[in-house]
Amino acid sequence: MPIVEAISVTKTYQLGDTAVNALDGVDLAIAKGDFLALTGPSGSGKTTLLNLIGCLDLPTMGEVRIDGTSTAALGEAALDQLRGRTFGMIFQSFNLIPVLNVHENVALPLHLHDVSADERRARVTRAIAAVGLAPFAASLPDHLSGGQRQRVAIARALVTEPRLILADEPTASLDSANAFSLIELLQTLNRDNGVTFVFSTHDDRLLRNVRDVVTLRDGRVQAARRLPEGELVS
Ligand SMILES: Nc1ncnc2c1ncn2[C@@H]1O[C@H](COP(=O)(O)OP(=O)(O)OP(=O)(O)O)[C@@H](O)[C@H]1O
Ligand SMILES: [Mg+2]
Repeated sequence: MPIVEAISVTKTYQLGDTAVNALDGVDLAIAKGDFLALTGPSGSGKTTLLNLIGCLDLPTMGEVRIDGTSTAALGEAALDQLRGRTFGMIFQSFNLIPVLNVHENVALPLHLHDVSADERRARVTRAIAAVGLAPFAASLPDHLSGGQRQRVAIARALVTEPRLILADEPTASLDSANAFSLIELLQTLNRDNGVTFVFSTHDDRLLRNVRDVVTLRDGRVQAARRLPEGELVS
């Protein structure tokens, strides 16, 4: 069974008298181990779809199911819990706390989880090592490059060991060399650690060797392809 399933999902925003169909009948399934990129022009619905998959928002029509259960059937509290157990999020702008060092930033989401101090330290150390930042654990975000900061945000998403990590344009604030190495890191975490990722990007060059790519246009799935996984070429 997929972790998340979108079934004929429609999202309509009301702007004054005009209804904007941000999503218009999208079907998508995400299974354990997937590495899926959402692409498409600005306004095609990528962020809207990621928000619906991550249960930050509910569809106007259609259904989002997590482990087969429709999110529409759940109350606010149950949905919150499910969200915390299921998803990790990475944002375009990193969202790090400037007065906390790398270790402390990565530890933040664990304060909402019931883990002992020892376990917390071990998990944070592991997540920081997984993104190659062990020597920077005591550094403040301001002393890191953009690429390193985004790696901290990835470590923070990994630390709760979520079943699915959602990333909205995680490379948008990076130059192209850093963007490539970031996607490479996500691929390595997917291949070696079995982390499931769904991310969005505008950048076609980043997608050449990504296994699954779904292209949105005007809120519809325009194309979906599945390629054998390979190394990224820059
Ligand atoms: N809160 C909102 N209120 C009204 N309209 C919205 C809202 N959020 C998104 N939209 C509209 O829905 C459509 C899809 O927007 P969305 O942000 O999902 O696109 P996107 O593919 O993520 O674009 P970008 O590449 O620029 O991030 C757009 O037409 C947008 O203007
Ligand atoms: Mg967007």
